[in-house]
Amino acid sequence: MEMQAQFITFEGGDGAGKTTQIKKFRDWLVKEYNIDILLTREPGGTPEAEKIRNLLVQSDGGDWDPLSEALLLSAARREHLVKRIWPAMKKGQWVISDRFVDSTYAFQGYGMGLGLDYLQENYKRIADDFMPSLTLILDIDPVEGLERSGKQLDITTSELEKTENRYEVMGLEFHQKLREGFLDIAKRNPKRCRVIDASKSVDEVHKQICDIFIECLYKPYETAQIG
Ligand code: TMP
Repeated sequence: MEMQAQFITFEGGDGAGKTTQIKKFRDWLVKEYNIDILLTREPGGTPEAEKIRNLLVQSDGGDWDPLSEALLLSAARREHLVKRIWPAMKKGQWVISDRFVDSTYAFQGYGMGLGLDYLQENYKRIADDFMPSLTLILDIDPVEGLERSGKQLDITTSELEKTENRYEVMGLEFHQKLREGFLDIAKRNPKRCRVIDASKSVDEVHKQICDIFIECLYKPYETAQIG
C-alpha cells in the first residue's frame, strides 16, 4: 500500500545528536519502506534561506533584537516551505527537517522571552494550518548536550561549521529554558510530538525513533495524513 507523503521534524537542544539520528532514520526508512525522502534543515533548505542562516547562526552574525531574529527566521521558513517542502510533498516525496517552527517557539519564544502568541500567529500567516505529522524532540540535559557539541566542534566539523556557534555560546541558563520550552511544547501537542531520551547510546536512540515511527505513522498512518 502506498503511504501518503509525510512531513517529519526533529527538534532539541544543541548536542542532542539530531544530525546523526536523522541520517540513520532516513537510511532505515529507505531500507525498510523504500520511501523517497528529502532531507533538509532550518534555518536553511534553499539558497535564500541559507543566506539568512548565515546571518543568524555564525558567531560573528551580530547582535539581533529577538523579534527581528524571529522575523528573519520566519522569512527563511516561508522560502523553505514554498520553494522546497511543499513542492517535494506534492510530488509524493517525504520531507524530514532538522528543526522547524518548534525551534522558533523554543529558542525565540521561551529562550529569548518573546512568548508564543505572536510567534504562533506569525506562523499561521506563512503556513496556514500546515504542520508536521510527527515531531521527534531529542531531549538531553544541556550540560551534557553542550559538552557533546563542544567535542564535535573540536574534532569533526569543518572550519565553516566551527563558526556556527552563536546559539551554543548563550550560556547554560538559556539552554535550560530551551529544554523546558521543548518539553512544554511536547506537553501541549501530545498527538504530534514525542520526546526521546537522547542521553542513551546512538543505537538505543535510533530504536526509540523507529518504534515511535511504527506506532505513530506506519500502522495508523491514515489518521496522520496531511490535508
Ligand atoms: P542547528 O545547529 O541545529 O543547525 O541550528 C542552528 C541554530 O539555529 C540552533 O542553535 C538553533 C537556532 N534556531 C533558532 O534559534 N530558531 C529557529 O527557528 C531555528 C530553526 C533555529
